[in-house]
Amino acid sequence: MSERFKAPRGTFDVLSEQVPVRRRITSSSQRLLEAAGYRRIETPIFEDTDLFARGVGESTDIVQKQMFTFEDQGGRSLTLRPEATASICRAYLEHGMQKQAQPVKLWTDGPFFRHERPQAGRYRQFSQVDAEAIGSDSPLVDAEMIVLASDILAGLGVENVRLRLGSLGTPAARSAYLDELREYLHSREGELSDEVRGRIDANPLRAFDADHDGTRKVMAEAPTLLDRLDPADAEHFERVRENLDRNDVVYELDPTLVRGLDYYTRTVFEFECERLGAQSGVGGGGRYDGLIEQLGGPVTPACGWALGVDRIALALDAGESGESEETRNGVFVVAEGDGRAAALALVIELRRAGLTADLDLADRAIKGQMKQADRVGARYALILSDDGKATLRDMRSGEEREVDPSLVAEEIAR
Ligand code: HAM
Repeated sequence: MSERFKAPRGTFDVLSEQVPVRRRITSSSQRLLEAAGYRRIETPIFEDTDLFARGVGESTDIVQKQMFTFEDQGGRSLTLRPEATASICRAYLEHGMQKQAQPVKLWTDGPFFRHERPQAGRYRQFSQVDAEAIGSDSPLVDAEMIVLASDILAGLGVENVRLRLGSLGTPAARSAYLDELREYLHSREGELSDEVRGRIDANPLRAFDADHDGTRKVMAEAPTLLDRLDPADAEHFERVRENLDRNDVVYELDPTLVRGLDYYTRTVFEFECERLGAQSGVGGGGRYDGLIEQLGGPVTPACGWALGVDRIALALDAGESGESEETRNGVFVVAEGDGRAAALALVIELRRAGLTADLDLADRAIKGQMKQADRVGARYALILSDDGKATLRDMRSGEEREVDPSLVAEEIAR
């Protein structure tokens, strides 16, 4: 026998029983986003590699280590999209959306690809719901978006969600701050752990995450970026916070929040679900006022987020049944012998009338067919007998009544 194939490392099949929860995540996101004026856009699964190199940032892990990049037959370098923001900004520019009323609010969902080390909640192909509002620098946009993501998670019933909020200010303020932090860390080098000391120049922000007592004491007195924002950025952040407070969104200020993508300016945020362990980020985003310009467009402020569908599904999984809404309201038609063709004809008629209907296709005896009706979660079983009679059984209450087979649709609607 030849070797059996398996799904590639870091990817997985979404089996039928996992579909309902995932569908609920995307459809309820769609409902809330579209009610808030976000319109759907679909961009290609692959793009020119340069779009991500320039958009996501050359120095990020995503671009340096995680992109699935390949050459096409014409020698062009293409990359499977690791995220949606750069593509949506490209589409905004390519289709002249700056001429529409601003901000342009767009959303999408689908598969994304990053060559990460696979573990529970971290995959090489994963799904996101993504929302972007392009063309406004109003702090109301940041607040509106954060509230939407928070309401989507709450509406889905994701529990123990923490929202971490920070502001990165401008790239200039950030780089001046990092210089100041390095200088501060060097001035207290003796109190730091060896590991932190070794990384002062490469990544001084790491020091904020350290467990080491001495380091923690030093960091408690360290300057934070939030204290060093330009007045306009500090004011912007204040407005974002006011609007979150006003709309009852609870958050934790995190002056050290950093994100894995280079394009962020001003507001950044992350939603974490404590239940999920190491890969707890169920969504994140922020403002990216420089990205459109970086991609060759005019100066255009924007803000957005992405929610991780796979992780949200993991967080919800325990409490959810894998039954689909459709089968739960359906009819299972039961018949034997020559009655089977009549059963198929009836099922087809019911489906054409818009009902969910199914039948046995494995030559089961009546008893086995009733079991099957139960197994698929059908709401009704319709038992056809040789004499042309039909009995409709409510699978929940067990109640049975004789019905005219040609009026089943009406009977069920009753
Ligand atoms: P991100 O934080 O890289 O942001 O991804 C958003 C979410 O996607 C994460 O919180 C996580 O739930 C999910 N995710 C990311 N990588 C994986 C993975 N390997 N396996 C499973 N889930 C994953 C972005 O992608 C930005 N484009 C968000 C954004 C939109 N910022 C502005 N606009």
